[in-house]
Amino acid sequence: MAVDVRTMHLILLGAPGAGKGTQASYLREQWGLVHISTGDILRAEVREGTALGLEAKGYMESGALVPDDLIIRMMEERLGKLGAETGYVLDGFPRTVAQAEALQAMLERIGHTLNAVVNIDVADPELIRRLTGRRVCPNCNAVYHIDTMKPKVDGICDVCGSALIQRKDDQIEAITNRLAVYKSQTQPLIDFYQTRGLLVVIDGTIGVAQVGEKIRTALCGEVN
Ligand code: AP5
Repeated sequence: MAVDVRTMHLILLGAPGAGKGTQASYLREQWGLVHISTGDILRAEVREGTALGLEAKGYMESGALVPDDLIIRMMEERLGKLGAETGYVLDGFPRTVAQAEALQAMLERIGHTLNAVVNIDVADPELIRRLTGRRVCPNCNAVYHIDTMKPKVDGICDVCGSALIQRKDDQIEAITNRLAVYKSQTQPLIDFYQTRGLLVVIDGTIGVAQVGEKIRTALCGEVN
């Protein structure tokens, strides 16, 4: 039976800067999928000074992963609120094999089926170029780049008019650490999902709209 794209449950995998957040926004706009970004949730917790935010801050600023138990609890709470008919795209979760196993158990418990895992593939030099030039909106989480995705007015978010900022973990030292952490802890998920027949690999080095189009074609070709 064909699956309605609006009810799909997707994971976006990829290194820091591969374009997960950018493509998740595209899928939200195109298909109305709920965008669940662990990075955005954690940054909001840090801004609000919650207990979770205070615990997560140091890990995030240095480019390390926040401990699995905190992330798994946070995501159990978030996913548990969604009905099986709500389509969503997970951006930044899971990031370790332990998180992927916990997600599998969570989905079984709440009766959701994972439709696909999209791995956005980009090499390190381009990732570094993207991350060092990225600017973000601290209010609505819109993402820009100083060379390739400029806002209409310099330094101001097109969507909500807030002043754009550079993330603390977009400094080169934290970026180097994030890329190393990605290789050791998150890259193993490519095999994890490949063996489960869920992996789709997309070249992330082409333009934003073209990457989105490739994701759409890959998913609709398989499930629609
Ligand atoms: P998180 O916010 O998830 O960071 P990340 O995975 O490092 O990913 P990024 O947000 O940096 O990159 P992205 O792939 O979304 O790229 P984007 O679309 O912005 O996590 C931050 C921290 O939180 C972690 O380091 C960790 O501490 C903690 N954390 C989060 N989740 C966790 C978890 N599950 N477990 C433990 N800890 C966790 O694009 C990047 C730039 O490239 C932008 O400027 C964009 O304009 C540009 N761009 C995008 N696509 C293209 C394209 N096709 N062509 C040209 N430019 C492009």
